[in-house]
Amino acid sequence: MELLRLAVLVSGRGSNLKAILDAVAGGALEASVVGVFSDRVEPPAFEWARRRRVPVWAVVPGATESRAAYDARLAGQVRDVRPQAVVLAGLMRVLSPVFLGAFPDRVLNIHPALLPSFRGLDAQAQAVAAGVRFSGCTVHFVDAGADTGPIILQSVAPVYGQDTAETLAARILAKEHQTYPAALQLLAEGRLRIRDRRVLIEWDGRQPRSPRDSVLEWQWIKDSCAGGSHRGQE
Ligand code: GRF
Repeated sequence: MELLRLAVLVSGRGSNLKAILDAVAGGALEASVVGVFSDRVEPPAFEWARRRRVPVWAVVPGATESRAAYDARLAGQVRDVRPQAVVLAGLMRVLSPVFLGAFPDRVLNIHPALLPSFRGLDAQAQAVAAGVRFSGCTVHFVDAGADTGPIILQSVAPVYGQDTAETLAARILAKEHQTYPAALQLLAEGRLRIRDRRVLIEWDGRQPRSPRDSVLEWQWIKDSCAGGSHRGQE
C-alpha cells in the first residue's frame, strides 16, 4: 500500500510532530512524513525531524512581505514535496485562503480545547478561567476561519480545581499525542468524508456504543474489527 504523504508545519516545540513520527515508526500510522516546514529559523521541532531523517525547511516571512505573498511562497515550497495532506502541529500563524486553496480539504490542525469552545490563543487558560469541568483537544480540517473547520476527532481531559493553564495544558497534550496520529490514520485509511461541514467517519456500519472520547471510541471499533466480531449499535 502507498503510504499517505504528510507535510508537517511547525513553529515551536514539536511534541505533536514527535508523536506523529513515533506513530509512523511504530506502524500505528501508515503514512510518511515527507517534509517539515517552519516559519521560524530553527524551531526545536526540527530536531525531532532530523532524528528521523526527515528533511526540514525554514520558510521565514520577510519583513515587508505581505501575508498573501508569504502564504503563496510557503504553499509553493510545501507543494514541492508532493504531500497528500498538510498537518499543522503548533504553527503559530493563521493560514489564508491563498495557502488553503492550494490543498483543498487537505489541511489538518490540532487545537487544545473541545471546539467550538475556546478558540484562538491560550485555550487552556481560557478553559481554567471559565471553570469548565472538562476540556480536551480537537483535530479538525482547516478552513478560512480561526479554529472553525470540520471536526474529525476529539478527546476529553478533566479540569481540576487546582489546575493552572500549565497543568491543564500538560494533561491535554498527552491526549493530543494519541489523537493526532489516530485522526491521521483515519485519513490514511480513506475513511474521512466532509459533508455539510461535518466529518463522516466510515467504519463499516459500526457505531459508537456510548459517548466517550472519540479517539477511544475509534480504538474500540478497531479492536473489535481486529477480533473479527461485527458489532452494530447496541
Ligand atoms: C499544541 O498544544 C497544539 O494543540 C497547539 O499548539 C501546541 C503545539 O505543541 N496547536 P507542540 O509544538 O506540538 O509541542
